[in-house]
Amino acid sequence: MKALVLNAENKTASVQEIPKLQPGPGEALIRVAAIGLNPVDALYTFHPLGATGRTVGSDFAGVVVEVAPDIAKDVHPGQRVAGFLQGACSANERPGAFAEFVVCPADLLWRVPDHMSLAHASAISLCALTAAQALFYRLGLPAPFDYPSSSSQQASNTNQSKDEITVFIYGASASVGLYAAQLVRRSSEATGTRIRLIGAASTARFPLLRAAPYSHDALVDYRDPAWPARVRALSVGGKGIDYALDCISEGTTVQTVCGTLNPTSGRMAVVRSRAARAWSVDGELSTEPIYGAVWEGLGVDVQYHHGIVVPASEGARKFAGAFYRWLESGNGGEAKVLAAPVRVMPGGLEKVVPDGFAVLGGGPVRERGSVQDRTEAWMAPISAEKLVYEIEGGE
Ligand SMILES: NC(=O)c1ccc[n+]([C@@H]2O[C@H](COP(=O)([O-])OP(=O)(O)OC[C@H]3O[C@@H](n4cnc5c(N)ncnc54)[C@H](OP(=O)(O)O)[C@@H]3O)[C@@H](O)[C@H]2O)c1
Repeated sequence: MKALVLNAENKTASVQEIPKLQPGPGEALIRVAAIGLNPVDALYTFHPLGATGRTVGSDFAGVVVEVAPDIAKDVHPGQRVAGFLQGACSANERPGAFAEFVVCPADLLWRVPDHMSLAHASAISLCALTAAQALFYRLGLPAPFDYPSSSSQQASNTNQSKDEITVFIYGASASVGLYAAQLVRRSSEATGTRIRLIGAASTARFPLLRAAPYSHDALVDYRDPAWPARVRALSVGGKGIDYALDCISEGTTVQTVCGTLNPTSGRMAVVRSRAARAWSVDGELSTEPIYGAVWEGLGVDVQYHHGIVVPASEGARKFAGAFYRWLESGNGGEAKVLAAPVRVMPGGLEKVVPDGFAVLGGGPVRERGSVQDRTEAWMAPISAEKLVYEIEGGE
């Protein structure tokens, strides 16, 4: 089968023929119809952690073609599914998604509703789980589904008051932010807690973010230096933010978002680790931001450079399974969240590196710009959009 394979020495990846995979116990073999690109896929191709030969890529959607005997009652050939793998985004040896076929543990797949294209479905799994982990699993906002949680999480969840609370999403037009807003709305509906949702994005994205399914109550322009004071003033009672998610977590964003929190009880989650030096701390932060890697949902340990290891977590794996069961459980086969807008890129696997990864770049999200000498419409900078490639013969 064809796969996009990492060349660590040359800091690139190319399409190569590799042996087709076989599903192991608990796994399904899926013919991939579409892949969604995440910043980490490009980052760890241009700055490799993994060894040459690893298949690159995380998000996929496709059709089940074979299942291991032990899961034959749950998953069937012909089912349209989506999920994510780790690709070449760690030092560990792990499978990737940018290939004609993938194998994935069946409990980490979710069934794609009939009305949703596989291109749209391929944009959801990783970023929606990232948002769900941050809001529910790490910050303790009540989840709209049950999951096995630690006693401290349960205490945090049951201590919620029914008074109105304020949630702030910095980077609301980023892919993670688009799913976070939808999950905040589902939390509010499920628990009855009134939530004032504030987002920070560019003004061009305000109309999208005000509308369903994101439904922000208030928006601030992150390029306006006065935005932190505006966010504090917009919070319920002017008391500051109860839950904040910084979907950028670069440069000074972490310190600035932290400054919007309710000083006694506000909590915040970040998407980049301090250890990865994506953000720095000059002086004290009032609250320690909570970081986690979405890969924890795979239930494996994740090795980064310099010996940093995010340990395997059984709880995170169970949370991921519970989240995907909930996601696919809407009435009439609807998914519980809608896919964020996608940009279907031309050219298939061969064009992922020269086009898709060129748009994403290997540097900070905030420093992305136009790709030099590329004027095609599909090479424009990303704003509230996920880059997706369709794989020939996938559906
Ligand atoms: N911890 C994890 O497991 C995990 C998982 C997923 C993603 N991530 C990380 O999360 C980050 C976001 O990923 P993504 O896929 O959501 O990104 P993305 O969709 O590619 O981000 C693009 C968006 O970023 C916004 N943006 C750029 N600079 C900004 C700034 N200074 N302030 C506020 N917004 C800014 C842009 O907003 P405008 O167009 O409105 O200007 C644009 O809509 C990446 O660093 C990614 O690696 C971490």
